[in-house]
Amino acid sequence: MQRWTLDINSPDWQSDPEAEAVCAALLTGELVAVPTETVYGLAADATNPTACARIFAAKGRPQFNPLISHVPTLEAAREHGRFDDRALALADAFWPGPLTLVVPKRTSSAICDLATAGLETVALRVPDGAVMRFLSARTGRPLAAPSANRSGRISPTRAADVISDLGEALSFVIDAGPCAVGIESTIVGLTDATPRLLRPGGIAREDIEKVLGTDLKSPAADAQPDAPAAPGMLLSHYAPNARLLLNAQQADPEDGLLSFGPSPLPGAQQARAEVNLSASGDLTEAAANLFQAMRHLDSSGADTIRVQFIPSFGLGEAINDRLRRAAAPRD
Ligand code: TXA
Ligand code: MG
Repeated sequence: MQRWTLDINSPDWQSDPEAEAVCAALLTGELVAVPTETVYGLAADATNPTACARIFAAKGRPQFNPLISHVPTLEAAREHGRFDDRALALADAFWPGPLTLVVPKRTSSAICDLATAGLETVALRVPDGAVMRFLSARTGRPLAAPSANRSGRISPTRAADVISDLGEALSFVIDAGPCAVGIESTIVGLTDATPRLLRPGGIAREDIEKVLGTDLKSPAADAQPDAPAAPGMLLSHYAPNARLLLNAQQADPEDGLLSFGPSPLPGAQQARAEVNLSASGDLTEAAANLFQAMRHLDSSGADTIRVQFIPSFGLGEAINDRLRRAAAPRD
């Protein structure tokens, strides 16, 4: 595995010699860890079934789980999916950015069936992360990229997280520093008359509803637990080694403590380890810090991590979704 460390603010990172090597690796079906504004992605050529199979193998991910394809522009997205007025309005408002749209797949799309799990729909995203857009544009391929962690584990927001979880499966890890949003994209399903929130994420439900002029509904009731509308929504997910307890009323000296806001829980000073997601109570800052905080508390050796109450509006919906999954009983 090679590591390409780049400074996204320098004007010429695109002409680093590593850029060509990474594109060549992608075009021969290899796996590359790529930073985005949400989390680090495990990227592969979405038109190459062997490359996509390598993603599933590296993640240890159930095969029924379809992948998001990343493209550089709305125009590129429209080669693969059919965009109605609602989809165009959302793309216009939020792309590039942490929004994934599930739309009907064009029969002419080159995205392979393994990437869409054989569905007639496709999940498309134009990320704000310039590296992912650049690689897709330069290779001319949509890039399938789930989060670059082993299935069910905490999503990576730094290159070092990726290397410790998946290092040996990768040709390259591209290190552009920590991810600004820190939580995965919001997924909206637009495959029938009812727009649905398939996964809360980096763009708040309220902001999407404002653009659509209508409420987002839950995933369809016929989505089965083993084939849910957004199958990444399996109940136990994002799991740390420690047990997670939500809405804690007080801290315990043996435990890790995940705090939020200006008022510490009774006993916070004595906790084995404490991270405050946002001392000012800012939910966007909290989302950016969430996965790193869970990793840190997990590595403190605590058997239990207690989580202070976090409100559920704005990005709080996505934060609480991830925390509930991390707290869910495991097999
Ligand atoms: O922020 C993100 O979205 C990150 C970065 C790397 O871009 N990617 C990510 O991908 O979270 P992944 O593969 O971990 O999550 C993909 C989600 C899963 O819940 C999957 O089931 C859902 O998208 N999905 C993909 N295609 C779908 C489809 N056709 N219909 C419904 N859900 C779909
Ligand atoms: Mg994931």
